[in-house]
Amino acid sequence: MVKSDDDRNNINTMSALVFHGPHTLALENKPKPQIVQTTDAIVRITTTTICGTDLHILKGDVPTIAEGRILGHEGVGIIEEVGATVSAFHKGDKVIVSLITSCGRCSFCRKGMYAHCCNGGWLLGNSIDGTQAEYVRIPFAETGLYLLPPDMDEEAAVMLSCILPTGLECGALNGHVKPGDIVAIVGAGPVGIAALIAAQLYSPAEIIMIDLDDNRLDVARKFGATQVLNSSDGKAAERVLTLTHGAGVDAAIEAVGLSATFDVCQAIVAPGGHIANVGVHGKPVNLHLERLWASNVTLTTRLVDAGTTQMLLRMVQSGRIDAKKLVSHRFELSEIIKAYATFENAAKERALKVVIRNTVHPEKI
Ligand SMILES: NC(=O)c1ccc[n+]([C@@H]2O[C@H](COP(=O)([O-])OP(=O)(O)OC[C@H]3O[C@@H](n4cnc5c(N)ncnc54)[C@H](O)[C@@H]3O)[C@@H](O)[C@H]2O)c1
Ligand SMILES: [Zn+2]
Ligand SMILES: [Zn+2]
Repeated sequence: MVKSDDDRNNINTMSALVFHGPHTLALENKPKPQIVQTTDAIVRITTTTICGTDLHILKGDVPTIAEGRILGHEGVGIIEEVGATVSAFHKGDKVIVSLITSCGRCSFCRKGMYAHCCNGGWLLGNSIDGTQAEYVRIPFAETGLYLLPPDMDEEAAVMLSCILPTGLECGALNGHVKPGDIVAIVGAGPVGIAALIAAQLYSPAEIIMIDLDDNRLDVARKFGATQVLNSSDGKAAERVLTLTHGAGVDAAIEAVGLSATFDVCQAIVAPGGHIANVGVHGKPVNLHLERLWASNVTLTTRLVDAGTTQMLLRMVQSGRIDAKKLVSHRFELSEIIKAYATFENAAKERALKVVIRNTVHPEKI
């Protein structure tokens, strides 16, 4: 059958979630991405999700995002096409998309600082179009994709794109969590819970989770928090100090991205302790060096490098990490605006990770 112009247009366009400046999103028809470099792959996204960072973008906290950008840096999908020099992956392979693009060759990549790759970094849904679409172009596909094991659940796998490596690298590892430690995590969103999962790999004695949302705190308990604190009364720091008999915590992990939550971390860190900042901050914070200068405290910041993805993948595959339990809601790509509203109103909607499925194959429309 001869295809009409409309059919042809259908094949060359796709649905995508587009950022039009703070507080403005639209689901639109956009051109399907094409191979640009021989190291690229085109992936048909089958599952994606929304990150707290996307909410920061919506608030206007991330000025690098241009108007017209397709958002999203998390996804699982099927390879549609590979560039001429991609040999590790083939059309039809099921893959996990890492949020970090890395060339593997530059000086930062050679140091394991993939997030600071001179030719990559956090590009997807930031400086290039992202995964909240039917298709995405993945530069340096051989380092930015992971083969999805045939027995791995897709919803569990999508947690490997960003939140699990973030919780581990920016939270537990930067917080130097070790056996017997007392850890506090401020923020029980998906990233805070990922930090909670990761911290437990290092056998701390206590993990105190702090949030304003009782539902998320309940989830945190199920994921292994030993204490949960609702900080709506503004007394989180006092209460942590009471719980720790005035000593404070060995690791204070900030997983929100606000001045107020960073302040809690500064107030509760014990001498010799670590403040591991994970949250994306759109505004300055006050660094209380007048209190901290003598406390032998370490403060770390980090954009996740995602160098731990392969290791975490094995833990998810073996069931050691039950990542699917993070999923609270499921939507189709056509409902992505509703998915954003649900994730934004997490307390009211009892939302944790909202998963977006792209089950309609465009050729079948
Ligand atoms: N550094 C990185 O590489 C990296 C990677 C991914 C995400 N992030 C950041 O991690 C943070 C968390 O991401 P998420 O997906 O869990 O986001 P989220 O928005 O779902 O969760 C944030 C949580 O903070 C809680 N919160 C808000 N204000 C609070 C307050 N005053 N006191 C206590 N809790 C408060 C909210 O109730 C919510 O549960 C975000 O800032 C995100 O941008 C950083
Ligand atoms: Zn993310
Ligand atoms: Zn590089």
